[in-house]
Amino acid sequence: MEYKLNKNVLVVSSNSKEIHLEFLKNKTIRIYEQKAKQDLYEIFEKADNTDHLVTLENDNLTISYFDKQIIIDNELNVHIKKENEQFVSLSFSKDDIQNVTSFRISEDARIMGLGDKVSSLNKRGYVYESWATDHPWHHDELYETLYKAMNSLLLYSYKRYFGLFFPSTYRYYYDLAKYDLDVVKVKNKYALNDVYVFLGDDPKEITSAYSLLLGTPYMIRMKMLGNNQSRWSYENEEQVLKVLEGYRKNNIPLDYIHLDIHYLDGYRDFTVDTSRFPDLRGLCDKLKENNVDIVVINDAGIKVDDNYKVYRYCIDNDLAAKNNDGSTYVGVVWPGDSIFPNYFHPKMKKFLVQEASEFIEKYNISGIWNDMNEPVSFKGELPEDLVFDIPSRKLIHLECHNLYAEHMVRPLKDVFRNKNLRPYLFTRSGFATTSKYAFTWNGDNYSLWHHLRYSIPQIATLGLSNFMFNGVDIGGFGGDCNKQLLIRWVEGNILIPFFRNHSTLDTKAQEPYAYDEELLSIYRKYLNIRYDLVPYLYDLAKNMNKRGELMLRPMVYNYPFDSNCIDINDQYMVGDSLMLAPILSQDTYKRIVYFPKGNWVDYLSGKTYKGERHYIIDMPLGYTGIYVKNNSIIPTYSNLTYIKKDEIDSITFKLYGQKGTYELYEDDGVTLDYEKGVYNLYKVSFNKNEFNLKIKRNKYQSTYKTIKVIYNNKEYVASFNGKDDVKIDLKG
Ligand code: GLC
Repeated sequence: MEYKLNKNVLVVSSNSKEIHLEFLKNKTIRIYEQKAKQDLYEIFEKADNTDHLVTLENDNLTISYFDKQIIIDNELNVHIKKENEQFVSLSFSKDDIQNVTSFRISEDARIMGLGDKVSSLNKRGYVYESWATDHPWHHDELYETLYKAMNSLLLYSYKRYFGLFFPSTYRYYYDLAKYDLDVVKVKNKYALNDVYVFLGDDPKEITSAYSLLLGTPYMIRMKMLGNNQSRWSYENEEQVLKVLEGYRKNNIPLDYIHLDIHYLDGYRDFTVDTSRFPDLRGLCDKLKENNVDIVVINDAGIKVDDNYKVYRYCIDNDLAAKNNDGSTYVGVVWPGDSIFPNYFHPKMKKFLVQEASEFIEKYNISGIWNDMNEPVSFKGELPEDLVFDIPSRKLIHLECHNLYAEHMVRPLKDVFRNKNLRPYLFTRSGFATTSKYAFTWNGDNYSLWHHLRYSIPQIATLGLSNFMFNGVDIGGFGGDCNKQLLIRWVEGNILIPFFRNHSTLDTKAQEPYAYDEELLSIYRKYLNIRYDLVPYLYDLAKNMNKRGELMLRPMVYNYPFDSNCIDINDQYMVGDSLMLAPILSQDTYKRIVYFPKGNWVDYLSGKTYKGERHYIIDMPLGYTGIYVKNNSIIPTYSNLTYIKKDEIDSITFKLYGQKGTYELYEDDGVTLDYEKGVYNLYKVSFNKNEFNLKIKRNKYQSTYKTIKVIYNNKEYVASFNGKDDVKIDLKG
């Protein structure tokens, strides 16, 4: 065996085989036979320049890497140990047709990751493929592909955590110990073995390293934490105004209304059906005056129509997907015969940004919802040999399929950034790296109880895969929802990052005011709770953007070594301090809740619970478990029916327990000025005697005029000038 260490890359060869170990920042090692091509996506690899002790002993190569040892044997298998106990051993091989990365897992191993699949957190025993696919009936774990192609795994095996990311854009096949009961095999026909290994000690360290490598999700607008109401479709102006009226009349918070495909003229992107929306600009202006913004859908396929500008541009400039004989590929989507723009081409990107910018400017639109971008054709899968030419080379669909959505949404960020605005962009499809350009939802779920149950592991898993700002269609997209299901759905998903009620054509109305007074008051109660918690959620969004930390977390993320937490799919953490334990089954009015270490307080009733215990708790309709970890500070707003940072002049800190600290972030909530340093940071703390708010940074003109504190059922109020620290005596 021979080796060569060249800066941060170790090249090892033995028996005419060769592997590379590239040491990267954040305890990440890329191990490869040959690097996957990376010219189509962006990642932020940074060399780790720490010196690793390399020794050759008994024919084995040993590397000391932080508190781990990495041993490479003569067969070039890579064994990773901590405290001299091996927890993973990666082998590269080739079967008849595919390159295979494999490793053995322990009997009690759990395998998480792979993004939007409909399943529990632990995917052990299943097989999946990374091939972006629209399955309108994706009801269970048996669907091996779904909208997104996410190539990351988080594993717990031999009592240790580690993460893996497979960077090729070609189709991977994941056998997660289905066939060989304790072996994971990841296969790819077209790319040689290449894997990033994350060697942090727990899920948080591992997924943050993954997020920083890929690029963390962008900073959201504060308003995006608000309530989104959608339907396929609000078919005309009158129906949209009814939504506004329905919400405002019933005093339920609302921030966005979504226009699905009926607003389009014959389903052509960047057009308006003026028979349905005679004055879309006037409508958007009116909604904005009422603090509701409009989001419009934008589909990938473009209608074949010689008189349609987008189609003409693609054809005249040779910018559509082509069959391998050079003719234009024609599929079928909502508009009928459709072509698929070559979003990989810089010229197409430029045109898209121009069209989208003009459109949103003209109509005063606030966000773009990108759909059908796997891409989908109702004629069947797009052939693998379609061609997309780019100036540097010829792309074959097989290689770039999983990146189609990314190249559609990535340039669109400029539509907003050029206006000094944070993007509001969401996408149905995507590759691992798409998560920094757009947020997402889980596609077409159904109004079914088990889809509500799956919403929690799905949202959590998307988060582990770097799509941390995400949601599901609340109430379910397909099928008719009913009162009990909608109530439990809202309760259960009330603190998910992106909150949108959406449903399909010809289904029972799903807006809260379409039901009865009881539902309305429960919907209002929970949205009020969500809106009160906006500053807490916004701080989580900041930490997501800055450090790659999840907003919504599976229990195992916060409590990785509490064996009671690893399999919890029906409770979740929001940040470090809030835990939700909802009812997720029909006609169920009590449930078991597990409280991890520490003491906990019911956010609604104030009742306390001891940690490391299970309780059976009553939860009648209208009640859900929201628990605060003791010794926490929760910042809140009050009485919001929409979110506009400029108008928020008071913030209330709710204090739990005997002491606590918190970092509060503040900026204008909407522009990119924070990137230039225009933001504030406050260190907030309390003990039994005193509350303190210390200004760490004040580069933004704070909107807060009063600081309130609630402690032991007493309210304290202090005025705030944005310049001086605040101290409140809690003894009085
Ligand atoms: C797709 C989307 C869905 C949308 C529909 C019509 O099915 O996933 O959200 O409503 O298309 O545009």
